[in-house]
Amino acid sequence: MVATVLSGIDPNRIPRHVATVMDGNGRWAEQRGLRRTDGHAAGEDALFDTVEGAIDLGIGWFTVYAFSTENWRRPPDEVRYLMGFNKGILERHAEDLHARGVRIRFAGRRDWRVPRGVLRRMDWAADLTRGNTGMTLTIAFNYGGRAEIVDAVRALVREGVKPDRIDERSIRRHLYQPDVPDPDLMIRTSGEFRISNFLLWELAYSEIVFTDVLWPDFRRAHLVDAVREYQARDRRFGGVPSSG
Ligand code: IPE
Ligand code: IPE
Ligand code: MG
Repeated sequence: MVATVLSGIDPNRIPRHVATVMDGNGRWAEQRGLRRTDGHAAGEDALFDTVEGAIDLGIGWFTVYAFSTENWRRPPDEVRYLMGFNKGILERHAEDLHARGVRIRFAGRRDWRVPRGVLRRMDWAADLTRGNTGMTLTIAFNYGGRAEIVDAVRALVREGVKPDRIDERSIRRHLYQPDVPDPDLMIRTSGEFRISNFLLWELAYSEIVFTDVLWPDFRRAHLVDAVREYQARDRRFGGVPSSG
């Protein structure tokens, strides 16, 4: 990445885990008189430019919200498009990402609504890249924060864990990705100020950066801007200001 883009970035305080709500595809398309699905298609360049930027910045974990448990409420044509699109993304990019040492993972429910061919592609991409030690790219797909907590509690009950043994640690251990640190930074595009059921447990102390940029226009430079904003924040975790 060119040095000017990275100016003002402290290489010693790069967030370990960045999570992104890729929002605004529909509005991007509407502004151009295109179909909503064209907006999703345009989000592909945004995603892979941003992933490249994340690798260059040395971000260890990068999580993107691709399809929520609530997105099934969309018109059937759009849902069908998004299923095929996410499968296509893996077909087009998994091998490149593999060559770059990226480990691809998925977080979400594997329920009957997700077409079998999509699940097969997801398994293929995860298997292909399982041994990689570079950045971990987690695609939150058919993901809901509440569903994740429900699934964790179900797993604990199934194991017969006694009520007194249930604590934050045991719940954390039963989330979809127990080995991944909580996001330091969450970015949401398109000017919406909400979480929309993303990583509810994990975001407890994340710094949140909201930007008006619509997802298809988002590029690595915007990621760098968000990291710069993150580095200017004072994370207190309930304590007192570190500079005070
Ligand atoms: C985000 O863009 C993509 C998904 C939720 C899959 P949207 O499709 O939500 O775009 P807007 O919010 O309608 O502009
Ligand atoms: C959140 O965006 C989900 C994804 C980006 C996949 P939405 O567009 O679905 O969220 P709401 O409906 O505006 O809250
Ligand atoms: Mg949206």
